[in-house]
Amino acid sequence: MRGLKVRRLPRPADGFPMWLVDVEQCDAEVVEGLLSSEELAAANRFRFHALRHRYILAHGLLRLLFRDRYGLSAEDQDIGKNRFGKPHLIRFPQIQYNMSYSANYVMIGVNEGDPIGVDIEVFRVIEDAAELMDLHFTEAERSAILQSASQGTCRSREFLKIWVRKEACVKASGRGLDIPLKNLECVFEGQMTSVQLDGGSYRTGALRLGDPIMAWSRRTSL
Ligand SMILES: CC(C)(COP(=O)(O)OP(=O)(O)OC[C@H]1O[C@@H](n2cnc3c(N)ncnc32)[C@H](O)[C@@H]1OP(=O)(O)O)[C@@H](O)C(=O)NCCC(=O)NCCS
Repeated sequence: MRGLKVRRLPRPADGFPMWLVDVEQCDAEVVEGLLSSEELAAANRFRFHALRHRYILAHGLLRLLFRDRYGLSAEDQDIGKNRFGKPHLIRFPQIQYNMSYSANYVMIGVNEGDPIGVDIEVFRVIEDAAELMDLHFTEAERSAILQSASQGTCRSREFLKIWVRKEACVKASGRGLDIPLKNLECVFEGQMTSVQLDGGSYRTGALRLGDPIMAWSRRTSL
């Protein structure tokens, strides 16, 4: 659609369809009319234009995806939230989705069937990485980061790579940060792994496309 620059991410084996949006290259007015009154009210609560712009694009594009992929009308797209805030389509529980924001990026994933989570972080130096690792990472995760850093890779980047995987998993579970991040371990060589969390199994993987650090997670058993 004119005014929108949306990239379809390569679909990983075991993954699901995902999109990456650089909101600086998009015109929010193109999709603003698709938002519900609740979403418009939420958008208008942002004090900063950039956050309002990003929110409108994220929610407008999601509604476009529901329309174009599944033929859902505006009435079909009623959204509810679980008690931890994870949104879902009330009338179409088989359609699962999740989104994440960082700086000028929005990442969106959509799936039929298994619950999913996505997370994105733009690279930045994490000044308090040591404290955050002590608080939220397992011993194996800390060792993996320190080992990579000792071999010359950037500690903040290694930190963020594990952080987004853990966030994607807790978002797939629907409980978000209600789950202590130390409860799951996301160390893996290569692009994906299985994670046990809260009595369920999840596949999770990393995605790389330019600067942003991204991860996805899909619940594979109940
Ligand atoms: C969900 C959570 C992990 C988001 O972390 P974040 O890095 O700040 O945000 P992200 O940009 O990655 O994702 C935000 C999006 O995740 C989705 N989301 C919100 N809560 C979620 C949850 N529990 N699980 C999965 N996804 C969730 C929403 O779509 C949200 O965007 P929106 O508010 O515009 O709809 C974190 O805020 C959280 O754990 N919240 C739940 C805390 C809780 O227990 N709340 C109870 C009272 S509602």
